[in-house]
Amino acid sequence: MDFNNKVVIITGASSGIGAAAALLFASQSAKVVLVGRNEAALKDVADKCMKSKGIKPLVVKAELSKDDDVKNIITQTINVYGRIDVLVNNAGVGVQGSIRDGIEPYDRVMGINVRPVYYLISLATPYLVKTKGNIVNVSSVAAFKPIKDMNFLPYCTSKAALDQITRCVAAELARDGVRVNSVNPGATKTPFVQAAGLTKEQMDDLYKVREKTLPLGKMAESEDVADLIFYLASDRARSITGSIFVIDNGEILQ
Ligand SMILES: NC(=O)c1ccc[n+]([C@@H]2O[C@H](COP(=O)([O-])OP(=O)(O)OC[C@H]3O[C@@H](n4cnc5c(N)ncnc54)[C@H](OP(=O)(O)O)[C@@H]3O)[C@@H](O)[C@H]2O)c1
Repeated sequence: MDFNNKVVIITGASSGIGAAAALLFASQSAKVVLVGRNEAALKDVADKCMKSKGIKPLVVKAELSKDDDVKNIITQTINVYGRIDVLVNNAGVGVQGSIRDGIEPYDRVMGINVRPVYYLISLATPYLVKTKGNIVNVSSVAAFKPIKDMNFLPYCTSKAALDQITRCVAAELARDGVRVNSVNPGATKTPFVQAAGLTKEQMDDLYKVREKTLPLGKMAESEDVADLIFYLASDRARSITGSIFVIDNGEILQ
């Protein structure tokens, strides 16, 4: 699949699934725009992308809860490359909280997992219409069911909202030739649960439980999820829009 001269923006490219997706797009000659907060990690991913096909990625440091940072992602991409072909809304955080904890966890998670996605899509749409490009949102199986052992009410709520953005924007932009799809992973080995507040020991325990209980007997790797993102962003998925793709080793069968 050839992404020669295609411009692909990936949020959350400094770690986990986003970093794996960035490397995969770069290996297929895409011009990748790497978005995240951790500059050292972004540089590391950029160096690896550069080694792949010799194409220097654009790195944009952005705190997605800040509107000016979100605007700057599009401004810098257009200033440097003049076009956008693919937007991968991958960045996300796992915010824990009970319904007894008040509104703060809700505001925090929606401010990172939903609001900037809505805003980025809005800002990118005129450019995606020009290129007949596409969007891949990274959601979760948490959109479909409570993740009780993680106390994930706020997170589950945010991912359910994200799936509806996928469907509604897909319906709105279909006649413009812009496709919008979602990849919904289950448990995947990344720093995600530690970012959500678990210690290393708690993460190791959780992984042991997941590997024992998941129907396929294993968790996904970032590269597994990146493969699906890449497929949906490619022309091979030209007849697919508004669809939600689960990749979870059978987690939602439980
Ligand atoms: N791992 C799983 O089990 C799993 C399961 C289902 C869905 N997902 C989803 O997969 C996506 C990627 O997660 P991951 O597993 O790869 O986790 P990860 O390794 O923790 O990566 C999360 C990424 O999001 C970025 N990010 C977080 N908050 C941000 C903010 N406020 N502003 C800018 N960037 C921010 C991080 O950037 P910095 O590190 O640079 O701050 C990082 O690059 C998320 O949407 C997550 O909900 C993960």
